[in-house]
Amino acid sequence: MIIEPKIRGFICTTAHPTGCAQHVANQIAYVKQQGKHQGPRNVLVIGASTGYGLASRIAATFGYGASTIGVFFERDADEKRTATAGWYNSAAFEKQAHAAGHYAKSINGDAFSDEIRQQTAALIREKMQQVDLVIYSLASPRRTMPGTGEVFNSALKPIGKAYTNKTVDAFRGEVKEITLEPATQTEIDATVTVMGGDDWQRWMDFLAHENLLAKNVTTVAYSYIGPELTFPIYRDGTIGQAKKDLYAAAKKITDKLKENGGRALISINKALVTQASAAIPVVPLYISLLYRFMKENGTHEDCIEQMTRLFHEHLYAAQPKSRDADGFIRLDDLEMAADIQQKVTTSWPTVATENIEALTDIDGYRKAFYQLFGFGLAGVDYAADVDVQVGVKSFSH
Ligand code: NAI
Repeated sequence: MIIEPKIRGFICTTAHPTGCAQHVANQIAYVKQQGKHQGPRNVLVIGASTGYGLASRIAATFGYGASTIGVFFERDADEKRTATAGWYNSAAFEKQAHAAGHYAKSINGDAFSDEIRQQTAALIREKMQQVDLVIYSLASPRRTMPGTGEVFNSALKPIGKAYTNKTVDAFRGEVKEITLEPATQTEIDATVTVMGGDDWQRWMDFLAHENLLAKNVTTVAYSYIGPELTFPIYRDGTIGQAKKDLYAAAKKITDKLKENGGRALISINKALVTQASAAIPVVPLYISLLYRFMKENGTHEDCIEQMTRLFHEHLYAAQPKSRDADGFIRLDDLEMAADIQQKVTTSWPTVATENIEALTDIDGYRKAFYQLFGFGLAGVDYAADVDVQVGVKSFSH
């Protein structure tokens, strides 16, 4: 089958297995170039198939020789559709990890469910005994509550008052104004339920209860702060409330882990094109400007560079870089550099449909988006017939 990208709104409904494998191979090659280091041995990554979670798994495996268990929610191919990108990514990752002699197994299912927690616990007990690093990198639009089956949907909205700003339809290159109505209290609460800290805490409590956490265990969850420009939709919006709840969870988890020498950390990462960030209004236009100035400055990074820095400079450094006043790891330092933000702020009012290609790196945004689904990667023959079914022995349901 010849596979082409099919864009629907801000998602791509097809994925290319060979392209996804190439995307993973490129990330592995980058990590290998940084050399082998001492660090985590047994790692659980929750949200391991795309974006920051996948990059974390690659960094732990190929930078530190760690064994990994990855949890994610992806779909295999059927007669009508290709598999999801995260499915192909994980298949390619496992193949390479196994070839290099690393233990890697994946659990495909709903990480919010008790059933998947139990499956994961059984696998840790059998293969690792205990984990010394837990990465929590879920990004989901909904959560089904274990026990009750109640479904909560997150909303990406401002709080208190409507927010009007520019946004871009990246594929049409159209810049237009968008007004987002403020969230209701129910929407705010639901977003906190989906993207806040409750599920992270449940995972950590459960693993501790099952005696599956090694002494001095580290757990890390990811967040974003960004510039004032996006505060109404991010930091001060519904997602920001959820992230505040995540920060509170980090404190509670650390309190519980203290006895064991463990810690729960928050890493503030850079804004990047991922399936999760493409869904947030205004953010894709901000990213297009940001990419332009960071590339011009030679400071642009993607998920894998960010996660390599997280491990090398913070989590497993002999002398970790200092954290901010809130105790957060700041991987967004290069994004938030004064000169970069100054340029973004100055350009923002002038960006329009007529000049978007010249003023921003919208082209780089699009390329990065296509690459998430395995399209547009150098070295891949897209005219070749490919099998959409990739055999994966190790994913369990
Ligand atoms: P992503 O969309 O690339 O990855 C999400 C992962 O969660 C995938 O592995 C997916 O399979 C998994 N997942 C979703 N629902 C699931 C479920 N019910 N059960 C099991 N797995 C499930 O997202 P991205 O961007 O890597 O986000 C990860 C974290 O990083 C989030 O907390 C996000 O807020 C944060 N972050 C993202 C930034 C960005 O610009 N993309 C910037 C800073 C932080």
